[in-house]
Amino acid sequence: MAKHIGILTSGGDCPGLNAAIRAVGKAAQDVHGMRVTGFLNGFRGLAQDQTMELDGKLLSGILAHGGTILGTSRDKPHRMLIGGKNRDMTEAIVTTYHRHELNALVCLGGGGTQKNALRLKEAGLNVVTLPKTIDNDIALTDQSFGFDTAVSIATEAIDRLHSTAISHNRIIVVEVMGHRAGWLALEAGIAGGADVILIPEIPYDVGHVADAIRERTRKGKHFSIIVVAEGAMSRADAAQVGKLAEQKRTAKSETEKLSASRKLQKFHDGHVGHTIKLTKQLEELTKQESRLTILGHLQRGGVPSAADRVLATRLGTSCAEVLKNAEYGVMLAIQGEKIKSVPLEDVVRKKKFVPVDHPLIQAARLVGTRFGD
Ligand code: F6P
Repeated sequence: MAKHIGILTSGGDCPGLNAAIRAVGKAAQDVHGMRVTGFLNGFRGLAQDQTMELDGKLLSGILAHGGTILGTSRDKPHRMLIGGKNRDMTEAIVTTYHRHELNALVCLGGGGTQKNALRLKEAGLNVVTLPKTIDNDIALTDQSFGFDTAVSIATEAIDRLHSTAISHNRIIVVEVMGHRAGWLALEAGIAGGADVILIPEIPYDVGHVADAIRERTRKGKHFSIIVVAEGAMSRADAAQVGKLAEQKRTAKSETEKLSASRKLQKFHDGHVGHTIKLTKQLEELTKQESRLTILGHLQRGGVPSAADRVLATRLGTSCAEVLKNAEYGVMLAIQGEKIKSVPLEDVVRKKKFVPVDHPLIQAARLVGTRFGD
């Protein structure tokens, strides 16, 4: 059984992180008698040995707080900006782990964190992870905490945008986060009664989106709400990404692979803010006044929903159980009603995208929502 554990939060923050830290910490300390040391600002805190002792007092009163008391960053163990240079800090991390005589390290994070935790496992550390992200794109877990809160925030925003869209007879495009997956746009779009939902998994034709708006006008509905995932793409853009991804997959040398991967990254970087262009295109095609709202980091801030607090508490307490059993190299996941531990190797590099025949898409289509296809 682990006697001393380290815990860190890594990647973008999200509501429910503190609830999860509290759950891991309380169950590990109070039930299993473990000592819990927090590392600050993600993997950077491990590399630079920045810690916070998580005693009972610190773990109290944080359940409903947004953000993370440990701080977070997108630093990777093997590529960390130190003194203006990217350095491999894996060795420093391993040294910190042993200096503190840790028996295990708990990493709370999204897809990138799962990958980084696996790297640390390969470097000899005992790691256990929890899935958090508003994107809900982590493989093998039905849901990650943070997602439910983000859906509620985006839904409330869509509700509010309805009244102003109706008052002005406007098209309002609402861009939501989600990285390259459409879960957040899909659920918030359905909950908010969006007229069109655009997600990365269904490349769209802007002409079809404009047709859907015109059809609404013909029926006497002089406003439209278009919910767009930040990663949604037109058919032409999706084809371009597909071509670059194929070049990367079939590259014959490391140099070719690197070049294809750079081009792909450049394309994705250039795609940021694509909803500005889309909003203008819709205005031109429909001759209807259009406005854009980008919800951005609002979706990651503030208090976690009740469902996220419950999920984080279940995952966190199960994590303590797994640590007690010295079961390492796993991520805790919710599958149906149960919390299960799944090998990290099975989780990494397998993003969970929205299947195009998902029941949520079918339900949305049945109430007249269009997907631009
Ligand atoms: O992964 C969570 C997320 O909020 C994505 O939806 C979004 O693409 C990204 O993080 C934004 O990252 P940052 O906070 O680093 O700008």
